[in-house]
Amino acid sequence: MNKIQAKISGVSGYVPDYVLTNHELEQLVDTTDEWISTRTGIKERRILKGEGQGTSVIGIESVKQLLEKTNTNPVDIDLLICATTTPDYQFPATANLIADAIGAKNAFGYDLQAACSGFIFALATGSQYIETGKYKKVVVVGADKMSSIIDYEDRSTCVIFGDGGGAVLLEPTQEDTGIIDSILRSDGAGAKHLHMKAGGSSRPANHATIDAREHFVYQEGSVVFKFAVTQMAAVAKEIMENNQLEGNDITYLVPHQANKRIIDATARTMGISNDKVMLNIDKYGNTTNGTIPLCLWNYEQKLKRDDKLILAAFGGGFTWGSIYLKWAYNS
Ligand code: UT7
Repeated sequence: MNKIQAKISGVSGYVPDYVLTNHELEQLVDTTDEWISTRTGIKERRILKGEGQGTSVIGIESVKQLLEKTNTNPVDIDLLICATTTPDYQFPATANLIADAIGAKNAFGYDLQAACSGFIFALATGSQYIETGKYKKVVVVGADKMSSIIDYEDRSTCVIFGDGGGAVLLEPTQEDTGIIDSILRSDGAGAKHLHMKAGGSSRPANHATIDAREHFVYQEGSVVFKFAVTQMAAVAKEIMENNQLEGNDITYLVPHQANKRIIDATARTMGISNDKVMLNIDKYGNTTNGTIPLCLWNYEQKLKRDDKLILAAFGGGFTWGSIYLKWAYNS
């Protein structure tokens, strides 16, 4: 009998209605549409507005849509993992808030924090539960409300990030499809280049941390860029080599959407042409854990059973990784 693998049997996405354009950012900070477009590829991003609206709102909308699309009864979900860097609270986990709101009464849930690589880490984690044979339905959410930790006075970060996310349903299959391989990496030495200085246990919130604007993303952009461009391409190339894949074998590269220049360099290293690269950075910017599920959701109609996808991401931590999967269904 073939071994059990985890297949993606549905994907969903959600972005808030409010569109923050480059032109609106020109009014907030010293920047231009031209700079943002040419340096990052971003034209606009979505912002979740309203009192008490956290990342769980994005997760709940995504999972509701996923259950409807896949005709899944919420009580049948075994596990819900939420990859997020902007949880609603330090505790409890955003996964639990989502599970409660959608009626997943029999599921256990937890959050996974690996910054921009979080969705890839969570997808690899979720697939392991399925492969044991014990779990039949695992929901993996990737969602962030980055606007809650962005300083709209800092032009080097506020132009990049946006809010949004998506979810996938994992189920077992014994056919040659689903998640085939993953490579996950992290290096805490990179923490100093991309982090949030306060609000955690080492530096709890107080008046001084707020006055010093330490509850926002701190990023040394060009340092992170150099690591991202090298490591994302290298890990994607490594997973291709491990699975005897050439550029022509790949149907789509599904890259984390941090910067169009990083994506282009990754595709070049992999020998993949531009038409085989999933892109939505122009519309949504960098939604951190949301970028990869949002890409899958946007391109779902174009995907066919047995299409070979390479997912790749790089993020704070540093963290990076890649997944090779075969798409399991025709839309
Ligand atoms: O998502 C996970 C991890 N994150 C990433 O992968 C992001 C990686 N980094 C990047 O994408 C890029 O480094 C940025 C988009 C953040 C910045 O682009 P860059 O080409 O690396 O610019 P830079 O930081 O080297 O700055 C170049 C210049 C600076 O001015 P001076 O010092 O040369 O006068 C910046 O102050 O560009 C300036 N600058 C801006 N100018 C206009 C930075 N941000 C802006 C802006 N508008 N929004």
